[in-house]
Amino acid sequence: MPDIESLLKEKRSFKPSPEFAKQANWSRKQVAEYRKLGAKSPTRFWAKMAKENVAWFTPWKKVLDWKPPFAKWFVGAKTNVSYNCLDRHLEGPNAWRKNKAAIIWEGEPGDTRVLTYGELHKEVCRFANVLKAKGVEKGDRVCLYMPMIPELAIAMLACTRIGAPHSIVFGGFSADALRDRINDAEAKLVVTADGGYRKGAAFGLKAMVDAAVAQTPCVKSVVVVERTKQPVEIVPGRDCWWHEEMAKASTDCKPAKLDAENPLFLLYTSGTTGKPKGILHTTGGYLTQVTTTFKAIFDVKDTDVFWCTADIGWVTGHSYVVYGPLSNGATTVMYEGTPTHPGPDRWWSLIEKWGVTIFYTAPTAIRTFIRLGDEHPAKHDLSSLRLLGSVGEPINPEAWMWYHRVIGGKRCPIVDTWWQTETGGIMISALPGAVDTRPGSATLPFPGIHAEILDDKGKPVKGEGGGFLVLKQPWPGMLRGIWGDPARFKETYWSKYDKTYFAGDGAHRDKNGYFWIMGRIDDVMNVSGHRIGTMEVESALVSSPDVAEAAVVGRPDDITGTAIVAFVTPKGTTTPDEGLVGRLKQHVTKEIGAIARPSEIRFTNALPKTRSGKIMRRLLRDIASGRAVVGDTSTLEDFSVLAQLRASDED
Ligand code: WT7
Repeated sequence: MPDIESLLKEKRSFKPSPEFAKQANWSRKQVAEYRKLGAKSPTRFWAKMAKENVAWFTPWKKVLDWKPPFAKWFVGAKTNVSYNCLDRHLEGPNAWRKNKAAIIWEGEPGDTRVLTYGELHKEVCRFANVLKAKGVEKGDRVCLYMPMIPELAIAMLACTRIGAPHSIVFGGFSADALRDRINDAEAKLVVTADGGYRKGAAFGLKAMVDAAVAQTPCVKSVVVVERTKQPVEIVPGRDCWWHEEMAKASTDCKPAKLDAENPLFLLYTSGTTGKPKGILHTTGGYLTQVTTTFKAIFDVKDTDVFWCTADIGWVTGHSYVVYGPLSNGATTVMYEGTPTHPGPDRWWSLIEKWGVTIFYTAPTAIRTFIRLGDEHPAKHDLSSLRLLGSVGEPINPEAWMWYHRVIGGKRCPIVDTWWQTETGGIMISALPGAVDTRPGSATLPFPGIHAEILDDKGKPVKGEGGGFLVLKQPWPGMLRGIWGDPARFKETYWSKYDKTYFAGDGAHRDKNGYFWIMGRIDDVMNVSGHRIGTMEVESALVSSPDVAEAAVVGRPDDITGTAIVAFVTPKGTTTPDEGLVGRLKQHVTKEIGAIARPSEIRFTNALPKTRSGKIMRRLLRDIASGRAVVGDTSTLEDFSVLAQLRASDED
């Protein structure tokens, strides 16, 4: 988490160059007008955006129906996301895009595939027909558990074509995590692959699906893409091969005329308590926000090659690898593998090879590359780049400056974009032709977005100051709920303040009105830009027969932002040693996935608690970050004295 003192000393400021400003999709003047309109009437602003940027089969009767915390946008309107991402680029004045690259894909081994809009349309229609043939109907949930291959984008768009919400589970999650997400969504069909490539080797996915689906009575069929050709089991009657079904399917499939509020997708994300939440997004509002923000913030033109490095398993990949770019008729790059395979310059070689013009990545990746050395980007011609973006966590000014200098050649504006799985699209960001940037600041809310900072007592912080980041007005891409749990939806986001969305982040506003996001203020860790609840890792640990009790905290880490540290009280009969450390890390990997694997496990005979029994996390965080790390220590720490000392002021 950035330190506010040093951030507020940040005085560097970067103006858009006159050349960039001149060609920007949104000029300074235009932005000023939109800000005025959005401040006065967010619904009028968003209705204008919806009309200009999205194609509708039937217009809306009402822009917004707001019964806090439940919103309906573009009530009565009908549209289709796959129509907006495909068909509308094949007809009328845009028909020339038929042979324009929609997806440029590169596999980790170096194999490539370029799908034009015309080809992608055919593939999507085919797979929509496969889904129908398997009995998937409008409203049925489809789970996608796949590597970063074009078939993932095809499957998503096919789901949207028939109105079947998808639930994508990141390929790094374990079989148990997959099973829980399938059951929660009651998915009828799973699309997977035999495996994919990472770090120079093939990993498997199908065996995980087999293990998961053995305990998911809702799943009727599994479709398997052949990617690595590793041996997999095909269960007759349940499993089939993607290529065999596609060969039989017609390329003719009309896009369903869907209600603007038809569920579009579910995406599971971690919270402070309980199991991951299925965040629900719907059709018309989400499409309006991602299409508009993509066009304005990434300034996309028909000549651009856009690359967002996120995995589609996270919301960034949903909104800015697939839906935002394709709905704008842009060319989007998809890369399957590890950033540093076969060498530390793989990403830079991809930018040179494909002539990437707009590049969107995460601070954790930037910090990794800083450490690897400037000689790797220096080996490649990066002069095609004209705009850079950052997302996932606060970017420290030093990383920002390196990105600006070494990757952007000092000529590319940087848009630092704040948003969340729940917001669907970008909420706070610079507009590259219209807003001066400051390293470490996400700058200003997008027009029509009413972000504010509230103090402890819920009073708005006027002018300079810090507090809790909230959103005062509904926005079109907002989550519509938590799947199957309206009570938790209200409790998590809408109970802290009245009719106000509570984001869970701390923020500071400077004297220019710029927002500086300080990171999570709850028990959610941001590890490499991914949210992991402390509680989830704790539940995984205590489910091990060796563990009596566990407390998990985040410790600042130079590369990943946060590293996971677990304090564990072993059961009386268990010896805390190196073997146990390994077993527990493995156990968490099995329960959740490698992203939640603790970097450090410390044993203790008792956890420090307040008199009322609450774990003193603040103390554990201090201990986790304050001491030198000596690998996997296996000393038994005694917190009982400390606990007694601190108990009074924590109560
Ligand atoms: C949390 C949301 C949708 C982005 C991918 C992560 C942090 C995100 C920024 C930024 C500072 C950021 C926040 C937020 N975050 N972008 N530009 N500056 N912090 O999505 O997993 O839903 O996590 O990521 O803490 O609440 P997510």
